[in-house]
Amino acid sequence: MNTSEPLRLTKLAKRAGCAAKHPPGFLLPLLGLLPTITDPNVLIGSSTADDAAVYRMSDDLALVYTTDFFTPIVDVPRDFGRVAAANALSDVYAMGGKPLMALSIVGFPDTLPATVLGEILAGASEIASEAGIAIVGGHTIKSEEPIFGLAVVGTVHPEHVLSNAGAKPGDVLILTKPLGLGIISTAAKNDQDTTSAISEAIRVMTTLNRAAAEVLTRYEVHALTDVTGFGLLGHLRNITAASGVTADVYFAAVPILAAAIEYVKAGIAPGGTRANRKFLTDWVEFAPDSPEWEQLLLCDAQTSGGLLAAVPDAIADEVVKALAEAGTLASEIVGKITGVGTGKIRVV
Ligand code: CO
Ligand code: CO
Repeated sequence: MNTSEPLRLTKLAKRAGCAAKHPPGFLLPLLGLLPTITDPNVLIGSSTADDAAVYRMSDDLALVYTTDFFTPIVDVPRDFGRVAAANALSDVYAMGGKPLMALSIVGFPDTLPATVLGEILAGASEIASEAGIAIVGGHTIKSEEPIFGLAVVGTVHPEHVLSNAGAKPGDVLILTKPLGLGIISTAAKNDQDTTSAISEAIRVMTTLNRAAAEVLTRYEVHALTDVTGFGLLGHLRNITAASGVTADVYFAAVPILAAAIEYVKAGIAPGGTRANRKFLTDWVEFAPDSPEWEQLLLCDAQTSGGLLAAVPDAIADEVVKALAEAGTLASEIVGKITGVGTGKIRVV
């Protein structure tokens, strides 16, 4: 490595998270080949494509169990640790749970100094303590490129689990962070981030979904997920398919980081975002005049994105107000559940 140049972690990431040859969702049919889960205490397994598994320990206690890890999407090691930790913790919040503790999952190259891993771990610990938990251990292997993430365990009341299934016709869809994180990260990685939007994107990605989850769990929420690698429309599809409903998304109401609009119009988008859009053609009907950049934004692969909630129309305004008061990065009504169906989505 040329020591005169600053270390840029993203330049070491050879496999960009979702940009693999396999299309999004390729794993789902494979999961169907595994033995059926028969343990009645497994309240949430793999069948609803949910954010985490949930296991009932007793009538009033269930464990939420999840893991998430990836190669660097930001350059500064401490930021990488912070983003990865916020992203992994998010899957516990997305089930309506509270995190208890976490283990780190690390792949680390021999070619990097150990201090880099120290920074990644310090960043992750910073976010874990914001979540009120500790990283209590983990496992590290040698790998060609850095990999970092967490396995997180949390708790939830078995009757208050929030999954992808449960959205009902008439529900309103609320989103708690702006979109565009994948597009901006890709611009930064490719030296095309002309407005230095990555710092705002990092602020968004390192913001825990804790405050949003604490508000949402006070209300009657029918379905909840976080918006990550499949983008807004991909994760909404997981909700509509698992719930047996159809939905409308209001493009004009979707919060989007301004730089992402500029960059995607200039043709910048991650491979994962393009793959999402392709995968979703069978599920999503865009307005006939909708430009490609609009479609890409709604499919943009997020890291540590916001929560997407389906709540009854009657309480939607109150929930939006409570989210805004709690200081969530966004609190917009971005669509609604329109009827019973097979999961189809219209962008209007
Ligand atoms: Co998730
Ligand atoms: Co996840």
